[in-house]
Order: sequence, then structure tokens, then C-alpha cells
Amino acid sequence: MLESIQNTQSISREELDAILQTQDSFLIQELHKKAQQTATQIYGNKIYIRGLIEFTNYCKNNCYYCGIRNGNTKADRYRLTTEQILSCCKTGWNLGFRTFVLQGGEDPYYTDVKICQIVQEIKSKYPDCAVTLSIGEKSEESYQAYFNAGADRYLLRHETADEEHYRKLHPQQMSLNNRKNCLKVLKKIGYQTGCGFMVGSPGQTVDTLYQDLLFIKELKPEMVGIGPFIPHKDTPFADQPAGTLDLTLRLLSIIRLIHPHVLLPATTALGTIDPKGREKGILAGGNVVMPNLSPVNVRDKYKLYDNKICTGDEAAECKACMAARMKSIGYEVVTDRGDYKV
Ligand code: 5AD
Ligand code: FES
Repeated sequence: MLESIQNTQSISREELDAILQTQDSFLIQELHKKAQQTATQIYGNKIYIRGLIEFTNYCKNNCYYCGIRNGNTKADRYRLTTEQILSCCKTGWNLGFRTFVLQGGEDPYYTDVKICQIVQEIKSKYPDCAVTLSIGEKSEESYQAYFNAGADRYLLRHETADEEHYRKLHPQQMSLNNRKNCLKVLKKIGYQTGCGFMVGSPGQTVDTLYQDLLFIKELKPEMVGIGPFIPHKDTPFADQPAGTLDLTLRLLSIIRLIHPHVLLPATTALGTIDPKGREKGILAGGNVVMPNLSPVNVRDKYKLYDNKICTGDEAAECKACMAARMKSIGYEVVTDRGDYKV
């Protein structure tokens, strides 16, 4: 079964069910091994690092799972100035980061003009760096303007490719159609584009996951971000169980096998549910990590879920910690933009 998934770079509904349900630890070991080999054949033992700058935790949306949802009156809101963002980049550049990911809630305070200014400033100071935006659903004109300003990549998790499931996770103002359309537009404009989803989100089933995989095959994104759902105490999903390490690792491996060249991070959420989660994610086929470059005084405010790791550490500590973690499993963190390899 694994050979056929690997050779055809596709998976049937039945094969997915079999892999997600099996208790056969040998089969799962083989799955992870094949995925890891697939990643190293393309990217070697190199791990790309992205400096994550969480520049605003204001958000106009109200997703049921997310700790910075508009309805969470307990969130302590902040915004970074352009100077603060540039200072994060400077620290990051000196530490060897060559990709900066600007991530935030959907915050209308940052108009298109402001976002373009920030992107232009970063690109003019650090022309050898890639800028990734992760700021949600915008119009085609806005996406085009950011691209013209120099943005290279865009992350927008689709969250689930199943209509009904999408409606369980989001209030009715949001639509899967719009989200999918944003992703198609981003690709069309020329961004290296990332979609993705949470593993174990409330209402997720083998069927919705199968839809996610079909969507990945259809979109052919350069990046896919997945991590376990983790409940946040001040959201409607406070009492829902978290996604598991085991299921997340199986899905990372499957995604690597069906879409071999993808840039696939071992996420902070994975590191949050297991102390060695990120290492395990790399050994299951991941090839990217995204240490936090946000100023330490705002880190614990950007809480999408409870118990987030690395909120107390300086950027340099995080980078050193990550390099040591990767070295412990035979990988090397590299100073490189880490573009998608065709
Ligand atoms: N647990 C795990 N991941 C979450 N995200 C948002 N809330 C949570 C949560 N409670 C993820 C979403 C979003 C990304 C930035 O973080 O998938 O797209
Ligand atoms: Fe942040 Fe280890 S990666 S402290």
C-alpha cells in the first residue's frame, strides 16, 4: 500500500482510512521512514528556518477555535510599529534567518498602503530575504499590491476543504468558497502559496481529511501548514479535545508522499503537544521550522491556543535551541531563503 501511494503520489479514501486507523506500528514506522526519505532526496538533511513575526493580535474574525478571535474580550491586544517589525528582522538577519513571516489577525488598522510600506522596507534593507505574509483573506487587488511591493510567499490555511465542516469551525460570514478562491488568486499572482489545516479540529473525520488531501492535490501549493488543534480556554471550543501527535505525524507523512516537493513545517503547535514534537515532525517528513522572532514582551499575547511554547525565550535562544534540536536528529538548520524546489 505504501509503495503504491509513493509511486502514484495519490491516496484513495480506503488507503487513507487504513493508514489513519491502523494499530500496526511497523506500518506507521515505514510510513514515516518513506516520507522522511522522500524529503531528504529533494532537500537533503537541510532544515529551512522562518522567522515568525506576530505583528498584531487584533482580528475582525470570530473563528470558533482561535484565541485571538474578535469575541475574546480577555485577549490583551497589541500592534507592532514598522520600527519594531524592522528591529525583529535585524535581529533575525544577524541570526541567519533569510525568510521573515509576517503573521497577524485580520486587522484593518494595517491598510494595504501600510502593509506595502512594511514589505518594501524589509525588502530594501534585506534584499536577500524572502517575505511571507500571513494576514488572511483579502481582495485580488490587495494581494497584487503586496506582491508588487515585494512579498514572495503567502500562507493562508484553508482550515478544512469540507463545506459542512467549515461551517462548524467558522461563523456564517466566512465561506470556504472565498477561502479557496483567495488561494487560487494567490497562486495565479505568482506567490509561493501555502494552505493547510488543523489536525483533530472539532468535527473532523476521515472524510473531511480526505477532502483536504484532494484539495492539496488540486491546488498544488508550495507549502502546507498542519498542526494539532489545541483548545483555547476563552473560545467556544474550550472543552474540545486536542488533536493528537500520532495523527498529526501520520498526516505529515501522507502529505509528503502525495506532494513530495512541498515545504512542510513541523509547527509550534506540534511542539506544544509533545516536547519532541518538532523533531518527530521532521522525522515524519517535515523540512521547515518556524522559530519565533516576535519581541518577547508580546509573545504570550499572540495566543491562538493554550500552553504555547517559546513565549519566554529571546530570538537568539530560540534559534540556538532549534539548531541543537535539529542536530540531535541528524539535520542542519541552514541560512537560506529556502525556496520551493521544483
Ligand atoms: N489550535 C491550533 N491551531 C490553531 N490555529 C488557530 N487556532 C488554533 C488552535 N486553537 C491555526 C489556524 C490558523 C493558524 C494561523 O493557526 O489553522 O490558520
Ligand atoms: Fe524556541 Fe526551543 S525553539 S526555545
